[in-house]
Amino acid sequence: MSRSVILPHEVDWGGWRSAARALALEGVPPEDVVWSVRAPDDLFADASEEPAAAPPAGTFNVPRALVDLAQTVIQAREPARFALLYQLLWRAHAGERHLLEQVTDPDVQRANRLAQAVRRDTHKMRAFVRFREVAEPEGTRYVAWFEPDNYIVEANAAFFVRRFATMVWSILTPYRSAHWNGEELSFTAGAARADIPDDDRLEAYWRAYFSSIFNPARLKIGAMTSEMPRKYWRNLPEAAAIPELIRGAAARVSTMVEAPTISPAKPARIPDAAPPTLDHLPDTKLRRAAIEAASCRACPLWEPATQTVFGEGPADARLMFVGEQPGDQEDLAGRPFVGPAGKMFDTALAEAGIDRAAAYVTNSVKHFKFEPRGKRRIHAKPDAGDIAACKFWLDLEQQEVQPAVTVLLGATAARAVLGRVVTISRERSRPIALTGNRQALVTVHPSYLLRLPDEASRQREYAAFVADLRQAMTLLDSSAS
Ligand code: URA
Repeated sequence: MSRSVILPHEVDWGGWRSAARALALEGVPPEDVVWSVRAPDDLFADASEEPAAAPPAGTFNVPRALVDLAQTVIQAREPARFALLYQLLWRAHAGERHLLEQVTDPDVQRANRLAQAVRRDTHKMRAFVRFREVAEPEGTRYVAWFEPDNYIVEANAAFFVRRFATMVWSILTPYRSAHWNGEELSFTAGAARADIPDDDRLEAYWRAYFSSIFNPARLKIGAMTSEMPRKYWRNLPEAAAIPELIRGAAARVSTMVEAPTISPAKPARIPDAAPPTLDHLPDTKLRRAAIEAASCRACPLWEPATQTVFGEGPADARLMFVGEQPGDQEDLAGRPFVGPAGKMFDTALAEAGIDRAAAYVTNSVKHFKFEPRGKRRIHAKPDAGDIAACKFWLDLEQQEVQPAVTVLLGATAARAVLGRVVTISRERSRPIALTGNRQALVTVHPSYLLRLPDEASRQREYAAFVADLRQAMTLLDSSAS
């Protein structure tokens, strides 16, 4: 007798698992089971469902790898996936414990193909979701429209909660929508693209940003459309800039002196993140930029990092400090200079009589670049491509804050702000003119002080660092007068 299982929605993992488990324990072979999903508006579907019976007794163990594979495959947009997974489960239960190792087995091959499509789709969703700002009576909601190929919204919602914990957001898709109110995740039915209003202040940022990091010398339209397939373009504000950029690429190449390189992606590891907080950013324009930067994908550093670490401080600060990039602790906390180098920085600031809260503190590169080594994440120096990809945000911060004096902490900061390679020992401690009657002062990075091998050099270099900070204050005083 054939059996019918009607699941309440497309990715009902729990429902599929308990039905499959009960059927296998009962000895119902795969060819006798018909799997389907209840249509969203099928109010009478329950009538055709079999009454739930008490699950049959018995033990049931399936290999962990099969569970993992099934959790991915169930997200595939393939009506036969439930039957395929039950077939695999049935075979594993019948004693084929190493079934998944038979990579030429047709069932295994089909499942692997579906899982691969889901993983590809997941990667695209994480990279191409763009929020639009929508004013609601209770405050701002960020709304994104995305058209996944598979049923991946539920499985990816936690990723977006981690990344955008402080925002109130909705991700609408044709089959299901996810909502985060700052505390709770919920799901509702699918939506239409027209549900998202068109006007959006954030889009200009993306367009300008994409244009600024677009490298015409490296234009490979094939590679570009495979990484950012055309079907996603209409939902990406920056995509509006692409045709124009492609048309102008040849002309720009001929005038280009140096093409920055973008470093290859590091192996991904997303550590459990402390939720990022933007409460320390009162100014709305900088705050909005920080929110935008949180979903920046201009270089591959975003993927293994926990979050973007934007600058912090008053928008009218007269003193700005620029570091290199967030370290391990900054990456987890979402704030610059809070780890060991930050402690050293704070001590020296206090000794120089500088109130950190009155200054704007930021980094040249806003994502933690690291090499995974076992459980540790070892700092990796940002290269010219990383600096170039992030320069848009640093320029924006400088433009918004307009500090009279910018202290450049180390060679990366000096390169990012001055646009050339800087030897610290040669240029340290002397004012350098910037545009708009502003000045920069190059000094060492506080982490340099932590690496010195002996007490005598530590004391000497620390005193020189404090002297540079005092000099920054002197410059500030003279600029005011
Ligand atoms: N080093 C930096 O350059 N910036 C930080 O935020 C932390 C360490």
